[in-house]
Amino acid sequence: MSAKIIDGKIIAADLRARVATEAARIRRDHGVTPGLAAVLVGADPASQVYVRSKVKQTEAAGMASSEYLLPATASQAELLAVVEKLNHDPLVHGILVQLPLPGGLDPQGIVAAIDPAKDVDGLSPVNAGRLANGLSALTPCTPLGCIILAKTVHASLEGMNAVIIGRSNLVGRPLVQLLLNENATVTIAHSRTRDLAPVCARADLVLAAVGKPEMVKASWIKPGATVIDVGINRIALADGKTRLVGDVAYSEALEVAGAITPVPGGVGQMTVACLLANTLRAACAIHKLPAPAI
Ligand code: GUN
Repeated sequence: MSAKIIDGKIIAADLRARVATEAARIRRDHGVTPGLAAVLVGADPASQVYVRSKVKQTEAAGMASSEYLLPATASQAELLAVVEKLNHDPLVHGILVQLPLPGGLDPQGIVAAIDPAKDVDGLSPVNAGRLANGLSALTPCTPLGCIILAKTVHASLEGMNAVIIGRSNLVGRPLVQLLLNENATVTIAHSRTRDLAPVCARADLVLAAVGKPEMVKASWIKPGATVIDVGINRIALADGKTRLVGDVAYSEALEVAGAITPVPGGVGQMTVACLLANTLRAACAIHKLPAPAI
């Protein structure tokens, strides 16, 4: 048996196209162009690639984007001043501060300073709290993408045993809330979990978000389970080249799982598409327009 491959590229392109159609409609009907501001501090090469991709795809969807590049030596006060300026800019509906921030800066303090209405990463305490309370909220993009991908396989996640591996604020914790909203039964495992393999083996839906290359083995996966791999790990090969791998041992898992996301070409594609969707949602909410039909 070989698992169905969940094609994040196609699913993300479809979502981006729907966002572009709705963005064009609100510009035509209401004169509003959704705008995203991306803030990058320092010159981490991976973060530079991510931010460039976010800006490019925002523009390709017919939305406005601006980029704020600060040196790695920027102070907390300087970064807070940029966030404050963007909070008050009427052309900006979404603010994204790329993480991780260079050492010495307090990410929690920065994220908390973003106007919750413009917090398109859904990471501020207000949006995280609203999500935890089952209220409408701007929701973190990667977890949102995971749910969309899982729902391309299962029309409903209700009653499924979902096991999340990893408890980060960016992925694991918000995933708990999103899966609860879908009426799944949720287990969150982490670095201190004992006997992870049997915990994982109970899962109908495995969501791996630990950042450890190929940690989840085929023997941990229940036959037929759906596997969503959030990991993006660059590993060195014997010939001196590098390769991207996920948190799941993909080629062996392919033989056991019912459906699986590849790396690259799975969850990673969805993060940016969901960011565009959140920017459109934020623009509609700020201008008191109905929520977009995406
Ligand atoms: N770094 C890695 N993923 C993300 C993300 O989704 N948002 C932000 N702001 N930083 C990230």
